[in-house]
Amino acid sequence: MGVFVVPDSLVIDNQEDRTMSQTPPVPLEPLYELDDAEVEHRTRVARQRLGDQCVILGHHYQREEVYKFADLTGDSLKLSRLASQRKEARYIVFCGVHFMAEVADMLSGPEQIAILPDMAAGCSMADMADLASVERVWQEMATLMPVEEMVTPVTYVNSSAELKSFCGNHGGIVCTSSNASKILEWSFAQRPKVLFFPDQHLGRNSGFRMGIPEEEMVTWNPELPLGGLTKEQILKARIILWHGYCSVHQMFQPEHVHLFRERYPGIKVIVHPECSLEVCRLADDLGSTERIQSVVRDSPPGSIWAIGTELNLVNRLKNEMPDKEIHFLCPIICMCSTMFRIDSQHLCWTLENLVEGYVVNPIHVPASIAQPARVALERMLSVM
Ligand code: 13P
Ligand code: SF4
Repeated sequence: MGVFVVPDSLVIDNQEDRTMSQTPPVPLEPLYELDDAEVEHRTRVARQRLGDQCVILGHHYQREEVYKFADLTGDSLKLSRLASQRKEARYIVFCGVHFMAEVADMLSGPEQIAILPDMAAGCSMADMADLASVERVWQEMATLMPVEEMVTPVTYVNSSAELKSFCGNHGGIVCTSSNASKILEWSFAQRPKVLFFPDQHLGRNSGFRMGIPEEEMVTWNPELPLGGLTKEQILKARIILWHGYCSVHQMFQPEHVHLFRERYPGIKVIVHPECSLEVCRLADDLGSTERIQSVVRDSPPGSIWAIGTELNLVNRLKNEMPDKEIHFLCPIICMCSTMFRIDSQHLCWTLENLVEGYVVNPIHVPASIAQPARVALERMLSVM
């Protein structure tokens, strides 16, 4: 667990200055001995005391007991924008995963501090591509073509700041699940090919919707020489997809769509674009978490839906709209275990320590990485 001592200028007014000690004044473990109501009460009190000094951002996959404390909720793109706009809050408490808090840090003001309540809240897909492997692939591609003139690197926002920085340094850009097709259009206006990482499915689904034939989208396995592809395949490809995927969204299968359609005539199926191309082609609609939420909300009473995305979001929509019939598009439970790491105890611990003038788990991207990463992020924000 990371502990950051607030610089003197950031110690909350009227608090005892505890910046000399390295131990957070409020320990985490005892919070697990309290009942839920007590944790909730303490969180509310701390939240109130912090007032405008703090903003809590919540991703749609967060569990209910945490989500209800979010001042602002959204998908990755919306939360990135919000992080860049809430300059008045000293502390951005990000209830989401690590790459989201990194984006908040990079897009917020220099005096703001982004915080991730549990450092173990990562993203397994983001971990599937690291800077060394991407640089190696870039060099391999350079043996076949003038890569800097031919290929735009595009990183899904679900990636480390280092990969965003790679894109910033190589004429590339960041995308999210809600803008990937637009970002691909921008990328093709720069150079004829795209290297898309880490999620093969978002890249393939977005390319498919732009009319790029499947044979012009190849998957590069970084474990294999030339990605396991022939020179001809690489030279013919318009999109080179990294061999990454989301372990949650890969659980949704075409047979699940067929099953729901057989059982519920007239059902509508909506999925996240991290699902496979086969699933997305069978669905009626697809989109980011924010879009899924708004499409289902805007549907008429009595609509029947099967939703292919993380369980917490689907359950929330189900509870919110009893006038609609909402199903989870998978017979087994698939949840994002890393999003789930942010629990009410970690949120309470984070806020109570802030009240005491301590920042636990600050996310700070070093300037040498943040500066080029910001170039790629700002390119994305200006395309939208
Ligand atoms: P959204 O940008 O759609 O919220 O997706 C983020 C994510 O991690 C989905 O798995
Ligand atoms: Fe990452 Fe998948 Fe979790 Fe989204 S649902 S944060 S892509 S592991």
